[in-house]
Amino acid sequence: MKVLTTVAGAQSQVKHQPRMLVPTMGALHKAHGELIRVASEHAGRNGEVAVSIFVNPLQFEPGSDYERYPRPEKADEEFCRNTGVDLLFRPSLAEMYADDRSVFVEESSLSKTLEGKLRPGHFCGVCTVVAKLFNVLAPDAAVFGEKDFQQLAIVRRMVRDLNFKIDIIAVPTVREADGLACSSRNQYLSSDERKQAAVLHKSLLAAANAGKTSVRELVALVRKTIGEAPLARIDYVELVDTESLQPLEVVRPNSLLAVAVFFGKTRLIDNIRLR
Ligand code: PAJ
Repeated sequence: MKVLTTVAGAQSQVKHQPRMLVPTMGALHKAHGELIRVASEHAGRNGEVAVSIFVNPLQFEPGSDYERYPRPEKADEEFCRNTGVDLLFRPSLAEMYADDRSVFVEESSLSKTLEGKLRPGHFCGVCTVVAKLFNVLAPDAAVFGEKDFQQLAIVRRMVRDLNFKIDIIAVPTVREADGLACSSRNQYLSSDERKQAAVLHKSLLAAANAGKTSVRELVALVRKTIGEAPLARIDYVELVDTESLQPLEVVRPNSLLAVAVFFGKTRLIDNIRLR
């Protein structure tokens, strides 16, 4: 495995086609492993898998967990070696951003709902860094997880609207045994919070199985189920269209039920498609 820390170094690499990219912020876990596995499958025998690890300050709002975001460099490098990654791109902050940077990538529709409503600037940070990683590593395809459904939709839109010649491959949400979606942030949870966090997926399953057509009833059911966990504080429960991410008035095909819940300072998100 080649470890690259500079943009120039990455751009001067001879490319083995097809090149698959898995962008991450590190603290790699089972779900990242699944993205890497899917990338390897698509790369085939002649292709290669590149993983980027960069904790992107642009997508963290002021006062959030940028400083305390886990950065287990050695373990992450081992993880990549053990999962058959060919190329690890791990740039420093200075390597990625000039102090006087002044060009950003802004998506102006899909990023206004759900996470975007509560985290202004977040998706501009995501789009900007993903566009840069696409330019630096020139992948033929890039792999993203459905846990961050809105991020996936926005990256697809960016690729379409800016004509990146890159396929976007989606991977279904990877979960722990009790249903909690794997996330680098799960490690912030206390043991009580961790136990109760299983309620997110439980509430989404209850909603999916209830066969309700009224959004009000559906949201009430999710809120009631999450309410059974005393340490949970709901940020939002929303039903949106999977394409436009706009809120829906009635449950219909291509609906996405999305939740964000705080446990202490830790904010977890999850989603499920309905029908
Ligand atoms: P990060 O949170 O490290 O996630 C990297 C990729 O792993 C994303 O595509 C994310 O959706 C996926 N992922 C994380 N947990 C998952 C799970 N339980 N199941 C399936 N996929 C999962 O997302 C980011 O980093 C950043 O925003 C990034 C795209 C790298 C830009 O900085």
